[in-house]
Amino acid sequence: MPGEADLSLGVERLRDLAAGAGVPLIAANLRDGAGAAPFPAATSVELGGLRVGLVGVLSPALAPAGWRALPAAEAVRRGLAELSPVDVVVALAHEPPEEDAPLAAAVPEIDLLVGAHGGVARAPTRLPSGAIAVRTGNKNRFLGRIDLDEALLARGRAGAWAAGTLQPLDASLPPDAEIEAMVSRYRKAADARELARLTPGGEARPEASGYAGERACERCHGAAARSWRASRHARAFEALARVGSSLDPSCVGCHTTGFGERAGYERPAAVGFLAEVQCEACHGPGKAHLANPAAPYPPPARGEALCLRCHAAERSPDFAYAAYLERIRH
Ligand code: HEC
Ligand code: HEC
Ligand code: HEC
Ligand code: HEC
Repeated sequence: MPGEADLSLGVERLRDLAAGAGVPLIAANLRDGAGAAPFPAATSVELGGLRVGLVGVLSPALAPAGWRALPAAEAVRRGLAELSPVDVVVALAHEPPEEDAPLAAAVPEIDLLVGAHGGVARAPTRLPSGAIAVRTGNKNRFLGRIDLDEALLARGRAGAWAAGTLQPLDASLPPDAEIEAMVSRYRKAADARELARLTPGGEARPEASGYAGERACERCHGAAARSWRASRHARAFEALARVGSSLDPSCVGCHTTGFGERAGYERPAAVGFLAEVQCEACHGPGKAHLANPAAPYPPPARGEALCLRCHAAERSPDFAYAAYLERIRH
């Protein structure tokens, strides 16, 4: 079931991607501008001797421009009616979590509701309708597991689904060699593409930037500069290089200064003098302060929000504001 961001790729590109991945797309209530359904409403697969029906649905609230999503429950019912009899019904619902229970209540045939939207992960829970709902979030951070009690299933649907687990795919699991090889191939290709985009001499330089660079601050703020140099912020880019990710746009934003900003730099390969989490990553571009040090260039608003931009829970699970601030005190 494509979500609204997938749909923005356009239906042709989506079909290509789905065909390449060998994953059929389904969407019971989705209509294009001409009112046509771009994908089948539902499909079924054989799993462990059971016929499992799958039906896809998009929250009408999420239909992007150029698309329409018909009322969900009605479309799901119609989609299921198109399938020959199935043992188990799974709804793939791209919708805000609060729409899960009403949808399952409106279509009691739903045994399992796999929800997605906005990266929210939720352990399997039983809805008032008896269906189990689970959300694995985004970026492959969780694996959802649902257990099916075959003995109970043989006696009818009710209660056959046992709530399962949500397994974090974190550093506690050993890496998989096949996946690592795939990632490594992808990285090499992406790095080559990234380097090819850099025009010769296109690296960020202080002369042509809104940022001054840490070396410029050092001249007048010797003590702060010494303290910074001893901190891990001064080696944040090095850390990326160590794991071979210094050209990855999904990493450099938090490990350098001014990525994606007009005053900073636009492409990872152009990082130049803006490598590392420098003074201006927290204090803001300092060119104007250099020109007139007496004018206000206040220290950043005191508060956690400044840090949380980068010390997000998934990247910095041990972050504690007071203790971390103490460690970078300058
Ligand atoms: C030419 C010398 C000079 C340079 C270079 C310079 N500063 Fe300053 N900075 C000053 C002076 C002078 C003040 C005002 C100090 C005061 O009011 O106590 C100041 C104040 C500050 C303050 C506010 C401190 C406070 O207590 O309010 C911050 C933050 C700051 N500078 C950061 C930077 C950063 C970051 C850089 C590099 C981009 C930088 N400075 C470069 C001279 C400089
Ligand atoms: C949202 C911001 C953010 C993004 C995006 C990010 N990081 Fe980080 N990274 C951090 C923070 C913050 C820390 C420090 C965590 C701590 O010690 O509390 C860190 C730490 C690290 C470390 C450990 C450094 C050491 O010395 O042990 C490595 C390696 C790393 N990141 C690599 C990456 C890679 C690779 C990517 C891209 C796939 C990435 N990071 C994306 C914020 C980010
Ligand atoms: C990780 C974010 C961060 C980085 C990097 C950083 N600062 Fe700061 N800086 C802060 C915060 C936060 C404060 C306010 C501290 C507080 O509330 O006690 C501050 C305070 C200051 C002050 C005012 C100190 C005072 O006495 O009030 C100056 C000057 C300053 N920083 C300069 C620098 C310079 C120069 C660098 C680089 C060499 C730098 N900072 C790097 C976050 C940062
Ligand atoms: C632009 C992104 C960014 C911002 C903003 C930021 N940090 Fe960091 N911070 C990082 C990264 C990346 C690392 C990991 C660097 C490494 O180890 O290679 C890190 C590491 C640290 C560490 C070292 C952690 C350890 O285990 O020793 C401390 C302490 C820290 N940051 C404090 C702060 C505080 C306090 C703030 C807010 C005032 C802040 N940081 C704001 C990116 C950021």
